[in-house]
Amino acid sequence: MLRTPLGTSLLGPEAGAGVSPASLITGANKGIGYEIARGLIAEGVTVLAGARDPGRGEEAAARLGARFIQVDVTSPESVAAAAKRIEEEYGTLDILVNNAGIALGGPSASQTPVDMTRTVYETNVFGVISVTNAMLPLLRRSPAARIVNVSSEVGSLGLTTDPESPFYSLIGIAYQSSKSALNMITVCYAKEFADMKINACNPGYCATDLNAHSGFRTAAQGAAVAVRLALLGADGPTGAFLGDEGPLPW
Ligand SMILES: NC(=O)c1ccc[n+]([C@@H]2O[C@H](COP(=O)([O-])OP(=O)(O)OC[C@H]3O[C@@H](n4cnc5c(N)ncnc54)[C@H](OP(=O)(O)O)[C@@H]3O)[C@@H](O)[C@H]2O)c1
Repeated sequence: MLRTPLGTSLLGPEAGAGVSPASLITGANKGIGYEIARGLIAEGVTVLAGARDPGRGEEAAARLGARFIQVDVTSPESVAAAAKRIEEEYGTLDILVNNAGIALGGPSASQTPVDMTRTVYETNVFGVISVTNAMLPLLRRSPAARIVNVSSEVGSLGLTTDPESPFYSLIGIAYQSSKSALNMITVCYAKEFADMKINACNPGYCATDLNAHSGFRTAAQGAAVAVRLALLGADGPTGAFLGDEGPLPW
């Protein structure tokens, strides 16, 4: 696969001296989101660790050395309260990582109840739109706003229709199509906000609660691409779908 440099880091020469970018990561209490938080903190970023459950969120934030912020992406009230709190306490937001996600699925496309797909979309699709729209006024105040949407290679139409691809045999109407939608959502926002860097990433198959720890990568390995995209310099891509090795087929 083509390997492309993702550009310089936001924390490189273009970053203001002594300024720590502020970031919000949804679903940061475990799995890939937790590791994205850890990776960004290691790069000197101020992390607001979003979690829907206060107990799990506080505990994870304490372990990370981050600040917990309650965000249930399916609750407009919770999302609005989070945006208000960030505005009051920080006044701006530099990085948004839409990581929170769930995976449900039936045995086949036709045997997946509509409500199951609807539930997945509430988090993986509408949740991302809701959080993004709520945070955009804060992101627009940043001189170098970055949005990273945590997508998946299983949402790639290119790969899932390629008989040579290992994903060809997958048929997950709820989860897979939610990530295909997320990819298009990424493109739509990237076109509207051309001064930001707005990208989708593929963590790869990581061992987390999402898949009963069946993945062959670690959550930290999966988080690495999101951390890089969150810190893209001015020469980095926008409106792209990227994994560790570069662009993926849409
Ligand atoms: N693992 C993989 O192989 C893989 C591959 C490709 C893409 N991804 C994507 O990576 C992202 C993270 O998944 P993961 O593997 O790290 O799964 P995970 O360990 O199950 O973590 C999912 C996170 O999302 C949170 N979450 C779920 N619904 C939420 C809601 N309504 N509001 C706020 N937070 C919510 C969970 O919170 P609770 O603890 O409260 O449930 C948890 O923090 C997802 O978008 C997933 O689709 C994962």
